[in-house]
Amino acid sequence: MSQPIPYLDLPAQLRPLRKELDAVIAKTLDNCSFCLGPDVVQFEQDFAKYCDAKHALGFNSGTSALHVAMLLLNIGAGDEVITTPCTFVATSWAISYVNAKPVYVDIDDKTFTLDPKLVEKAITPRTKAIMPVHLYGHPCDLDPLLEICRKHKLHLVEDACQAHGAKYRGKVVGTFGAMSGFSFYPGKNLGACGEGGALVTNDDAYAARAKSLREHGSSQRYYHDEVGFNYRMEGIQGAVLGVKLKHLAQWTRERRRVAKRYHELLAGTPLQLPIEADYAESVYHLYVVRHPRRDELKKHLEANKIGCALHYPLPLHLQKCYASLGHKAGDFPISEKAARECLSLPIYPELTDEQIQRVAATIRGFFNS
Ligand SMILES: Cc1ncc(COP(=O)(O)O)c(C=O)c1O
Repeated sequence: MSQPIPYLDLPAQLRPLRKELDAVIAKTLDNCSFCLGPDVVQFEQDFAKYCDAKHALGFNSGTSALHVAMLLLNIGAGDEVITTPCTFVATSWAISYVNAKPVYVDIDDKTFTLDPKLVEKAITPRTKAIMPVHLYGHPCDLDPLLEICRKHKLHLVEDACQAHGAKYRGKVVGTFGAMSGFSFYPGKNLGACGEGGALVTNDDAYAARAKSLREHGSSQRYYHDEVGFNYRMEGIQGAVLGVKLKHLAQWTRERRRVAKRYHELLAGTPLQLPIEADYAESVYHLYVVRHPRRDELKKHLEANKIGCALHYPLPLHLQKCYASLGHKAGDFPISEKAARECLSLPIYPELTDEQIQRVAATIRGFFNS
């Protein structure tokens, strides 16, 4: 029997980096620079450059970066933020944490991202911002969203947690709106050895306040200008991310190679394959195919020792935690269909052509049997 193909293979990513990671972690231990510190500062500069942004601030998660984004825009109780129900729940947490209301708008059927055509209908006098998600590493259609923001005087906050280095019309995502949030959760395209996140912005005032909010609302030790948080990035994570960032461009090329091979090998099967919109250069955080017999296909792949996953099985408007919003099945049909039919195949830079061929052959076997 052939070797299992894991859904995600972090050991394969870490193996060639191990010596370098051991060395930078050892240096952090020697320096005892555990909370923020020089490696975080260096990583912030490097990541800002990668995003073509003026500021990138290290956080302890993408969730906390997005939470602070809401605070920086003074969004609070009674306010509404338009967003997508087809995402990881943390997009909505940021809105809920400031006691604002997530107002869901359905997605585009092809890109799984917020459908700009549906956004204006959801705007009310309470709307303060739009928070789209560059889901699976594919940018959302930013130009029409920015136009709506201009027209209605709203802020745009990009949830770029899955989209490090993705491009919209040739420009890297992260600075199209007021600010953006990135996640460095270990399985992300750029992942820490633990938790991590970043808030990215071109605005000096937002950056200064974000720095203070992540550190107990203080810019001078033991003097607190406002109620803040302990959202600091750990020194060890800054050091690890600095090492890994040097490989990100190459890893993205490898992810795109894997996606291209899947496209070639799965063309002509009954699956709906992910597309790249004409404005987009995806970083393929995930490779998500769709089919009404998704559950059977998942079992078939697992029986053949091929890992796969669901992103996401239940859209946010139908989650128990958001029952108070009063939604019901049928409110966002495209998101609900995506949740029923989506299946994420293994995709990572280290995936070999032989493995890709086995995944594709196993899928073809399912449809031919
Ligand atoms: C779309 C999206 N938003 C927000 C987050 C939250 O990031 P984190 O897990 O770093 O808090 C994630 C990642 O898990 C995500 O995928």
